[in-house]
Amino acid sequence: MLVLLDQTRLPAEEVELVCTDAPALVEAIRSLAVRGAPLLGIAGAYGVALAAVRGFDVEEAAAALEGARPTAVNLSVGVRRARAAHRAALAATGEPRQAAEAALAAARALHQEDAEASARMAEHGLALLDELLPGGGHRILTHCNTGSLVSGGEGTAFAVALAAHRAGRLRRLWVDETRPLLQGARLTAYEAARSGMAYTLLTDNAAGSLFAAGEVDAVLIGADRIAADGSVANKVGSYPLAVLARYHHVPFIVVAPVTTVDPDTPDGASIEVEQRPGHEVTEVTAPQVPVTGIGGGTPVAPLGTQAYNPAFDVTPPELVTAIVTEEGVVSPVTAEILAQVCARPAPGDDRLTA
Ligand code: MRU
Repeated sequence: MLVLLDQTRLPAEEVELVCTDAPALVEAIRSLAVRGAPLLGIAGAYGVALAAVRGFDVEEAAAALEGARPTAVNLSVGVRRARAAHRAALAATGEPRQAAEAALAAARALHQEDAEASARMAEHGLALLDELLPGGGHRILTHCNTGSLVSGGEGTAFAVALAAHRAGRLRRLWVDETRPLLQGARLTAYEAARSGMAYTLLTDNAAGSLFAAGEVDAVLIGADRIAADGSVANKVGSYPLAVLARYHHVPFIVVAPVTTVDPDTPDGASIEVEQRPGHEVTEVTAPQVPVTGIGGGTPVAPLGTQAYNPAFDVTPPELVTAIVTEEGVVSPVTAEILAQVCARPAPGDDRLTA
């Protein structure tokens, strides 16, 4: 079985969610009990291993897991990696047991590599901050949730803020609440509080006045998919921050492992943006709010109100100051530099095996 921390219950309670088969994991992914690009990749790989170990149809499970959410490319990277290991071992040995072990080993390797990538991103990101903002005392604005909850290690953008905090160079982390599902308020504030850093929560709408007041030195966000031209899909609300950052001459920095860079997606227009149900907007669904509405939350709009609810938006490369990966920093963000930095797979790396 696969045991997950149910992120829909945070911060009210830390509850484990036990998945005994791939359909349960698919549901956990769709409901955002498990979420965030790197973690989706890790969970997807373990999901394939789970199906194999339990003797279910691995190809069917892999297809269902891969299709559970469309935007974060890490999910399909993780699923394909474990599936490739399973296929190869089955072809070589004809032994389902050995094939299941190979899928599990691939999932564990991805998990471990993500932790290592996270540490290297934090190093590169802190060096970049120090270069862009000499003198320290960084006031960093972040959006959505990018810490250890979404990673085998300490995360992506949050890991950089954490490194700055540990180095005594973080003055404040500004945390966007991240409507409608409040990943910033529920999850990033939870992680920031646990780490002991100075942080302040704001509504997404308050970011503009914060920039205007000169209170933001840099924006740090993660990514769900980075197209070959450097376009960045991330949690809806990221693009407006990039526009604000450009207007106010503030660096807009994306932190993501190379598994988030998708060379098969040529540009931002080619990224499929997940559309989520309207009730996430017309109702408040935080776990500590009483449940009365049809979506499991409290209605905050008249019944029958239609809602526009894209889960992500796309920031064009010209608004991104730098993309920090574990392999190095891409800046300026061009297709050529992105391809150069990301084309450094380690010896024996099976990431590109579909
Ligand atoms: O819909 P979610 O909560 O899965 O969206 C997550 C994000 O947008 C994160 O910012 C992104 O995955 C980067 S996580 C390191």
